[in-house]
Amino acid sequence: MDFTVKKAIFPVGGLGTRFLPATKAMPKEMLPVVDKPLIQYAVEEARAAGIEQFIFVTGRGKTAIEDHFDSSAELRSTLLARGKQDLWHSIEAIALDAGRISYTRQPEPLGLGHAVWCARSMIGDEPFAVLLADDLILGEEPCLKQMIEAYRELGGVMTAVMDVPREHVDRYGILDVGHDDGRLIDVKGLVEKPTAARAPSQIAVIGRYILHPRVFEHLDRQQRGAGGEIQVTDAIAKQIGRMPVNGYRFAGRRFDCGDKVGFLEANLAFALSRADMADDVRRVLKRFNC
Ligand code: UTP
Repeated sequence: MDFTVKKAIFPVGGLGTRFLPATKAMPKEMLPVVDKPLIQYAVEEARAAGIEQFIFVTGRGKTAIEDHFDSSAELRSTLLARGKQDLWHSIEAIALDAGRISYTRQPEPLGLGHAVWCARSMIGDEPFAVLLADDLILGEEPCLKQMIEAYRELGGVMTAVMDVPREHVDRYGILDVGHDDGRLIDVKGLVEKPTAARAPSQIAVIGRYILHPRVFEHLDRQQRGAGGEIQVTDAIAKQIGRMPVNGYRFAGRRFDCGDKVGFLEANLAFALSRADMADDVRRVLKRFNC
């Protein structure tokens, strides 16, 4: 099999309950970090990694995401009439090329594994990426690009990983670690949301994956895992021993934007990384004595 990764799935079918009431009528993935919705960061990361086909798994109330990546004739004429060419060019760049974007629907949010499974007919016999928009990564080289470069040599399955405090292991899929060279980790086992006492390590899977189409053989069974949800980590765990399964410790700082404090922190970090805002934001922070 060719290890080139050309397709990416963006699961956006979740309910975003931790952000209610903000997510009552608006998708969590449209929450802005500074001035860009989370999902746009994920799409830009995939584009920068060479992805050519963008597959969204949506659900009820998610049409704002489709509109966001569509072209907008009305906005075009208004901005051009007001002489705002530069702003229009930045907006125009958001739209994905015709034929490169597809949408499918997850009828019920039965878990991430189920969302990925809903896109199975759009994948075929090739490896594909999965990006979770609420894991936002700030770094020099996009996380998925780093992973795809490493994946070219390895194939199999690869997940982005990071070290987490022991008291947080119950929020993540946790690796049972074989060889670890600091960047690449040979995965011997994978446990979804273990208790601190049962966690085999403190190395956690975060929301960037490169998956082999054989994961669908497991997902086809629709087995429920931790939290009663169909888990993608269970499908990955089933591949151990059948193909290389690697964790990739990426360079960059990850923010959990599915969590309120993580989301606030991401806003601060991204604002402070911008030349047009950093000084003003620092001034504001001083007013809070921090
Ligand atoms: P989360 O695990 O953060 O779940 O999903 P959630 O339901 O969106 O949020 P909370 O926990 O209720 O606040 C991570 C990503 O996976 C997608 C979500 O849309 C989000 O982008 N997802 C999750 C699905 O597409 N379908 C699912 O069944 C579950």
